[in-house]
Amino acid sequence: MALERTFSIIKPDAVAKNVIGAIYNRFESAGLRIVAAKMIHLSQQQAEGFYAEHKERPFFGALVEFMTSGPVMVQVLEGENAVAKNREIMGATNPADALAGTLRSDYAASIDENAVHGSDAPESAAREIAYFFSDEEVCSRTR
Ligand code: PPS
Repeated sequence: MALERTFSIIKPDAVAKNVIGAIYNRFESAGLRIVAAKMIHLSQQQAEGFYAEHKERPFFGALVEFMTSGPVMVQVLEGENAVAKNREIMGATNPADALAGTLRSDYAASIDENAVHGSDAPESAAREIAYFFSDEEVCSRTR
């Protein structure tokens, strides 16, 4: 199978818990490579733009407030079946439904503050990667 890329965010709650390294270890142990990464503190405009598809949802304001409450780590992960593999590692959106051993089961407190984001399809991955990284910033083995 061809290499695939996905986009990942370690959200403010997980950064505050000091588990960036532990989460990176999960990615690497599953065969995903980190091919771009940076720590940023999202502006309101950046967060609203990233989650624009959810702007009519009742939780949108709280989501933007949470995502701008502290620094996040954004990264591009590369590997076979990277989109699905990352979502398996993350677990369900609501940590109450997440399987034991997944990131959200281990590190998330609630559906509102759920530790990590991962793209849900290759198309959204491409869009989300381009939202945060230029082509030159992605040190992909496919380039
Ligand atoms: S859903 O519920 O299936 O439509 O969720 P999804 O489309 O995967 O993404 C929703 C994003 O909003 C975040 N979020 C919440 N979702 C549902 N309910 C509540 N209360 C809520 N609060 C925040 C959720 O984590 C998804 O963000 P990402 O960053 O993609 O995980």
